[in-house]
Amino acid sequence: MDIVEIRHLKKYFKDGSQVVKALDGIDLSIEKGKFTVIVGASGSGKTTLLNTIAGLYEPTEGTVIVDGLDLSKMGEEQLTVFRRRRLGFVFQGYNLIPELTIKENIVFPLELDDTRPDAAYFSNLVHLLGLDNYLDACPHMLSGGAQQCAAIARALITKPSVVLADEPTGSFDMKTTQNVAGLLKMTAATFHQTLVVITHNLDLAQLADRVVRLQDGKIVQ
Ligand SMILES: Nc1ncnc2c1ncn2[C@@H]1O[C@H](COP(=O)(O)OP(=O)(O)OP(=O)(O)O)[C@@H](O)[C@H]1O
Ligand SMILES: [Mg+2]
Repeated sequence: MDIVEIRHLKKYFKDGSQVVKALDGIDLSIEKGKFTVIVGASGSGKTTLLNTIAGLYEPTEGTVIVDGLDLSKMGEEQLTVFRRRRLGFVFQGYNLIPELTIKENIVFPLELDDTRPDAAYFSNLVHLLGLDNYLDACPHMLSGGAQQCAAIARALITKPSVVLADEPTGSFDMKTTQNVAGLLKMTAATFHQTLVVITHNLDLAQLADRVVRLQDGKIVQ
């Protein structure tokens, strides 16, 4: 089964009098449970593609179906709920809330939805990501790699169907990159999640089931 189905997708941006064809005719099906990596030069459309899958950008043309839902048929409020319940995001800059403890950061997406964490799932996730001893610490007390692990836990706590990550290991050294990438892959596999990751990192790309290469807004082989 395909959890993401993209057909004839175009996304154009207006830049003054110029039109930037950020995505220029994308057809892509992503199988449920698989780990897909998106690579391509700077400006090739990677972030635009990820943001369109997340329903953050409205396509200029074409359709995006995620987990059986046609995003173009959803209103803003439905999209917000869709993102909160079905998607997990991991960003390069972690975006942890500095005033909250690691535990509070991880469960934050559930609180937005007035739900409580499944205790067994929470412990399992925290343990797999090596965060057991950091739950009461504030983000600044952790290394970059550990903060990114907390951001991964936060992305997965809602049991999303699809996990989207934009350069999740951007500024890490090789060892941290391998650790974080391995943990991201392992947790997604453990909880049967579909993982879509943008990266420039070839070590990370090697862990993928499939590598999608973008060039000038198109998929190339
Ligand atoms: N909000 C926007 N408004 C105007 N142009 C945009 C916007 N977002 C992206 N673009 C343009 O669309 C093209 C694709 O950008 P995108 O950010 O998707 O590339 P990318 O592959 O993620 O690059 P990078 O590796 O640098 O992150 C670029 O030419 C960029 O300038
Ligand atoms: Mg980008």
